[in-house]
Amino acid sequence: MSVPAHIAIVMDGNGRWAEARGEPRTVGHRAGIEPVRATIRECARLGVGALTLFAFSSENWRRPETEVSTLMGLFMEALEREVQELHANQVRLRIIGNRQRLAVGLQQRIAEAEALTAGNTGLQLQVAVSYGGRWDVIEAAKRLAAQAASGALRAADIDEERFARELQLADLPDPDLFIRTGGDHRISNFLLWNIAYAELFFTDALWPDFNAEIMAEAIEDFRGRERRFGLTGKQLREEPRV
Ligand code: FPP
Repeated sequence: MSVPAHIAIVMDGNGRWAEARGEPRTVGHRAGIEPVRATIRECARLGVGALTLFAFSSENWRRPETEVSTLMGLFMEALEREVQELHANQVRLRIIGNRQRLAVGLQQRIAEAEALTAGNTGLQLQVAVSYGGRWDVIEAAKRLAAQAASGALRAADIDEERFARELQLADLPDPDLFIRTGGDHRISNFLLWNIAYAELFFTDALWPDFNAEIMAEAIEDFRGRERRFGLTGKQLREEPRV
């Protein structure tokens, strides 16, 4: 086992990073863009298959309006500025979350970026915007319920594999490494279903200070753990899964 196939990251601590410098929180969000670029670059370099970043949660809509609009402006700017370079590096970009809540202009830009990069076979990059793990599960349940109501699906045929196919990350392997910066040890409603077996890595570093060195530490930590998937250590050693 060399590198994780899929890394999910909760990018936390932008606000505190700025406040520690006597700056408004939005300065921290702006400073959070460079580590996003560095992390994408590093994942591509290491051969990580997929990277999923939590940029804005369903709950973040409740933040002060100026902070929300700054973040939305940053997403738009970053999309406009970075998409060509992502494309040139074979990155496939997708946005996961409830995009109907986003401004129409941003929705359009997202659709264009996704269409442009759809055929890329390098790093699969998901940015979660207006995303919540419970929302994801509920949307999946609604779609399955509608199929069952129409007679296209038998309720008895719903199993884990069928359910997972309705989730936002349907075509990707589950994240095997979950990283959260900013010192809190919480999942905060990110990818609830998909991280069932992920290894969790928490760092006190605030997101604007995140870098390749901390990522290497997370991957090193991941490599050192025994992933048992409910089996005993002895079973695993006799019949290794990977
Ligand atoms: C959490 O820090 C961070 C966010 C809510 C926004 C994340 C956004 C970026 C890193 C900007 C760029 C992203 C992309 C994809 C272009 P916080 O505000 O919760 O910090 P705090 O915990 O210190 O208050």
